[in-house]
Order: sequence, then structure tokens, then C-alpha cells
Amino acid sequence: MEVLKPKFSLDTGKKILTGKQIQTAKKTYGEAKGFYKEIDSSLSQDTLMYEVFSYEEGDLKVSGNLFTGLTVLYPVLVKGECNMTRGHFHHNTNCAEIYGGLSGSGLLLLMDESHKTWAEEVFTGSIHYIDGRLAHRLINTGEEPLRVLCVWPTTAGHDYQRVEENPFGIRVFKSGGKVEYR
Ligand SMILES: [Fe+2]
Repeated sequence: MEVLKPKFSLDTGKKILTGKQIQTAKKTYGEAKGFYKEIDSSLSQDTLMYEVFSYEEGDLKVSGNLFTGLTVLYPVLVKGECNMTRGHFHHNTNCAEIYGGLSGSGLLLLMDESHKTWAEEVFTGSIHYIDGRLAHRLINTGEEPLRVLCVWPTTAGHDYQRVEENPFGIRVFKSGGKVEYR
């Protein structure tokens, strides 16, 4: 029997995905500033807000194929607002998603179709089943980078516009080390 190396793996030291086909993307404050309630002119446009390592395989338009991603969300405050991902609904609301907390601490913000907003606690070892009908966003409420592994169908699609038109009902801030929901 032939025993092969896996196509990609988790570098347990750096806590990133490694492998020949891993793609990387970065989001700077300049690109992300529209996500937050207020503009923070004390932050450089080049401040790194999050990085995503991803693995793709197969025909992405074929139902049943999966994407894998690892998001590293840095502990940056934007005028007191905790750093977060852009947040999205799936275009195909039949497509669920799994998140797994690898390190750091934060929240998985969820919103249903009636704009009810709530969160699940994200921590090392937490696993989250995200129903395909829910909007979802990661928020770093801790002092360390929040690292989350994500697996979702390639046919899910990211509907950012729907979240921009129907924003999450809660924003998360940190003041004097205390997390506040507004
Ligand atoms: Fe998603």
C-alpha cells in the first residue's frame, strides 16, 4: 500500500495551514475600515487585521466539494470595537459550515433571517455548526490572535451585500479590558 503525505496540514507551531496548494490572503485596515462603526485615524492603513489560508480542490461549482480555510484574526481595537471579519450569509442557504477554534478567544456572531443576533463563544477546541441560513462573523475579544479552522461547501458562496443591507444587530467593544455588547 502506498502511504502518502497529506496534501496540507496544520503547522502546530505557527498554527497556519501549510502545503503546496495553500493560498493566502490578507486584509488590512485600509481594506476593512468599512466594517467598523467608526474610522480610527490612529491606525495605519497597512495594519494587518486578518489573514486567511485556504485549500481548494476539485470543480468548485460541483455540489459536494469542500473549501478549507484558516482565519487568523488579530487582536486590534478600532475606536474600542473588537476586530472582526466582514461577515456574510451564504448565497446558497442550504450550505452549512463548520468552524473550529484553534487558539485565542472570541465570539462567533450569528444572525437569522429576522435579524435576531446572538453569539457562540470561540475558544481552543470549540466546534461550531453554522446553519446555512445564518449570517456569521468572527470577533476577537481576546489579547492573542484568534485562529479558526473553517470547512464549507464550495457552492455556498459569500453574500456580503445581504449583511451590508441588513447589518448584525450587535457590535462588540472592549473598554478597560471588559467586553461590551452594543
Ligand atoms: Fe460562511
